[in-house]
Amino acid sequence: MAETQTCKMSSVPVQQVATGDRAILPEGAKTIPIYIMGKRYEVPETLTIMKAMEYAGFSFLRGCGCRGGICGACPTVYRKEGNYKLHFGLACQTVVEPNMYLAQIPFYPANRASYDIETIEPTAEAIHALYPELFRCVACNNCTKACPMGVEVLDYISALKQGDVAKAAQLSFDCIQCGLCASRCMGELPQYHLAQLARRIYGKHLQPHAEHLAKRVAEIESGKYDAMLDKLTKADHAELEKLYLEREREPEMVPLGSWMPQDTQYL
Ligand code: SF4
Ligand code: SF4
Ligand code: FES
Repeated sequence: MAETQTCKMSSVPVQQVATGDRAILPEGAKTIPIYIMGKRYEVPETLTIMKAMEYAGFSFLRGCGCRGGICGACPTVYRKEGNYKLHFGLACQTVVEPNMYLAQIPFYPANRASYDIETIEPTAEAIHALYPELFRCVACNNCTKACPMGVEVLDYISALKQGDVAKAAQLSFDCIQCGLCASRCMGELPQYHLAQLARRIYGKHLQPHAEHLAKRVAEIESGKYDAMLDKLTKADHAELEKLYLEREREPEMVPLGSWMPQDTQYL
């Protein structure tokens, strides 16, 4: 949490702030009031909600992961002063606004089915059997409005109802499993678990398999790269730097697919 100390030269209070990835106070930044779980705090106006909460003294034991908008750990609900409308965002991506009232929802208790992805039937019917609540959807679109990633949640739910697993997998590709859609669903659906199952089925059973990828995995498993990896992990910093700087690089502006390195032993 921020502390205040007195500057010896001028006797002017100097604010000490956390640095690094915790809360960097930009020079000259104003502070603004925000309400975290109902309590008022003054925080620098340019911070994200996550950094503002840390600035205010909170430590994240839960509700924080990647800090980059990818892991889905920091879903946050907020309102703005004098307005009934609820807003949804990721604490690590959303910048604070004056008089926002916010709460984090790091976990939402949504139903999650058990299945074996190796043996599951790759059909929409298998998903329907595991998640019959899918048909409780009343198409209110609250889920789509709540999604901080702009995913068309109702559309992928509708695709699943219509039996189109591939479409649901593609439409839900940007889902980060934050759970905000489920928190707003009057049908009590676990949308993101349904979508994850659709993507797993699509990836495992429906999508054409890449032969070159299977070949490379087999090579890795056969130990083809073990000696090289062993050498790299034992190399010191200078050796690694030399290898990196001397590596063969694809020239810029060559026609696609026309360049090959001279050393092809690891291809
Ligand atoms: S679809 Fe749901 S779980 Fe996925 S990112 Fe959007 S709100 Fe979060
Ligand atoms: S919030 Fe629930 S009921 Fe409403 S459209 Fe989304 S899945 Fe359907
Ligand atoms: S911390 Fe990972 S999405 Fe915010």
